[in-house]
Amino acid sequence: MPERRPKQREGKQYDRAAEDLGNIVALEHVNLQIESQELGTLFYVSGLGLTRDPYMMTSTDNMWVNVGASQFHLITGAPQHLRGRVGLVIPGRAALLQRLERMRGPLAGTRFAFSERDDHVETTCPWGNTIVVHEPGRFGRLQLGMPYVVFDVPPGAAPAIADFYRQIFETDAAVDETGGMPAARISVGPSQELVFRETAGKLPAYDGHHIQVYVANFSRPHRRLLERDLITEESNPYQYRFETIVDLATGKPLFEIEHEVRSMTNPLYARPLVNRNPAQNNRNYVPGRDGWVAEPMEVGPMGIGMDAPPRAARSRQAAE
Ligand SMILES: [Fe+2]
Repeated sequence: MPERRPKQREGKQYDRAAEDLGNIVALEHVNLQIESQELGTLFYVSGLGLTRDPYMMTSTDNMWVNVGASQFHLITGAPQHLRGRVGLVIPGRAALLQRLERMRGPLAGTRFAFSERDDHVETTCPWGNTIVVHEPGRFGRLQLGMPYVVFDVPPGAAPAIADFYRQIFETDAAVDETGGMPAARISVGPSQELVFRETAGKLPAYDGHHIQVYVANFSRPHRRLLERDLITEESNPYQYRFETIVDLATGKPLFEIEHEVRSMTNPLYARPLVNRNPAQNNRNYVPGRDGWVAEPMEVGPMGIGMDAPPRAARSRQAAE
């Protein structure tokens, strides 16, 4: 029998691990109660230029707002406050600033605010939540979406939070010491991260807002959470919930944030979301341009294309 030799590898060699994803494959929604659907519409739809989901939750007690492949879920109720901030990518900074400017009157008397920074626009919703808007370019191929959510956590919590996600969820997690305070950075999608930034300030009590993620392996995280008595809801065959991130060595609670954990077999997974082109109006209407369309992105040092640097190198952008 002739010895079977491995086929000669030809061409350029690649770091194949650079495109690995962890077990959390998508951060889909952030759920916040809001006091008024009218004020919510003015901020999220008219101001930020996002799109109300036309198919689901179309009454006045809840609104789903699309931002690329992610959403805000905005239920009418006592307003909830995310202890941190939500990062978005929305193209067109000048148009965004114009839209926000037009909301000053309609949102007067609320906590609505916005300010221009070097590389982003910081906005405050009518109830005080901070939403940071970046232009495309820093978050891989993401041109409209939710690249990160930052949570403020107690001092000393970041390493154990990174360990929690690594061991329970089998996803990439690292402690970033480059900011003023350490942060746990958790990979939750190709260009998405949860960031748990330690803060010396006093943290408000948790008021029950939640986030939702999709996972590839659904049962192993469930088994590990169940072993530690951390499952809070067995929602249905495709979803469970937990709320407390603990130190796996001591069992001590580190941070509370409800996660809806969904399987990729959930019927809602990768549901196509409608995203409009917010530049369309009845005075400058261009037929055929109602839907938002991604632009070709420049291939540069951090650019996109088959010759761009690998994902792992790109994903080190700071959610600061
Ligand atoms: Fe949810």
